[in-house]
Amino acid sequence: MIILHVVGARPNFMKVAPVIAALAGRCTQLLVHTGQHYDKNMSDVFFQQLGIPEPDINLEIGSGSHAVQTAQIMIAFEKVVLAKKPDWVVVYGDVNSTVASAVVCSKLGIPLAHVEAGLRSYDRTMPEEINRILTDRVADLLLTPSSDGNENLAAEGIDPARVKLVGNVMIDTLVRLLPQASLPAGLPERFALVTLHRPFNVDEPTMLTALWTMLNELAERIPMVFPIHPRTRARLESLGLMQGNHSDLILLEPQGYLEFLAMQQKATLVMTDSGGIQEETTYLGVPCFTLRPNTERPITITEGSNMLIGSDLQLLRKEVIAVLDGTYKKGRNPELWDGNAGKRIAAILCPLPDSGAGV
Ligand code: UD1
Repeated sequence: MIILHVVGARPNFMKVAPVIAALAGRCTQLLVHTGQHYDKNMSDVFFQQLGIPEPDINLEIGSGSHAVQTAQIMIAFEKVVLAKKPDWVVVYGDVNSTVASAVVCSKLGIPLAHVEAGLRSYDRTMPEEINRILTDRVADLLLTPSSDGNENLAAEGIDPARVKLVGNVMIDTLVRLLPQASLPAGLPERFALVTLHRPFNVDEPTMLTALWTMLNELAERIPMVFPIHPRTRARLESLGLMQGNHSDLILLEPQGYLEFLAMQQKATLVMTDSGGIQEETTYLGVPCFTLRPNTERPITITEGSNMLIGSDLQLLRKEVIAVLDGTYKKGRNPELWDGNAGKRIAAILCPLPDSGAGV
């Protein structure tokens, strides 16, 4: 039995690691990296820290428009599938590499499993939402992180027999590596952690400038630590915003997994437009303000420590003050975010001879 995993962008790497580990010794595994993310600090460092084996194949696609990037992955990945003839292809999350490989498999009739299936923001202006819908539509096995995923898929008419609730693989990696998390040197004792990379926050100069002004203002109350995604750095540079900032707005390069995990755990609060960080802060019980109008991870709000801010920067200021005053809500950890999702996936994909399939 050959299981072929596809990853491409930073948030895929922490999801594939526990599945590869849980399947070790049970089947032949192949790992394909599309090369969507290619900088050392966006890719290589994660493979090293997460203990992911070197990819068997790197498609080296790199950056491009959505159509170019997706199409180039499809062309290159089709050749891999035809040559390797896997029994299953497993795709992760909602990036362009996910949907590109999913469409290839569905046309070739190769069984496809989607890890992190069923999440929906119901906002089709985000490319990730299109990627989620299309991938789930063609997947044969839909592995959900939380029960809202099962409900979303049922509402879309997807046969529940194809859907399995397995829990959150990203939390598997967090649970495993939290003991090794290590803060980078030179951070202040107390800080807020910031990440921004979504096009609607960083590609629109008015929005990016308003966010930037607010971060400088909030730095008066608590130091801000901001590891900058390459896309965001390019926009900030073109608007001349990298200089002349508050001395407590501390700008860093993108961080490794272990460093960023330690930073999340230590932060007084987090502001982000990422998906995964909403989940990690929920697990860690750290207040999270999501700078997006919606989320595909509503359980982090209903159960966890997350709150949607949208683009209401006055609300952001008010809620940051609530955290500093100690009046912000306390969350709890959702069901099956327990470090064992990878094992549940392995039991379904490749059951041990006498164990019987299932979760
Ligand atoms: C991608 C995912 C997004 C995910 C994010 C995590 C899609 C549609 N988007 O967005 O869901 O949250 O990854 O980081 O798949 N770049 C580099 N070096 C790199 C990679 C990118 O400099 O290693 C720069 C390039 O200028 C590139 C830009 O970042 O054009 C955007 O990269 P891309 O992979 O297209 O999208 P992300 O914004 O990273």
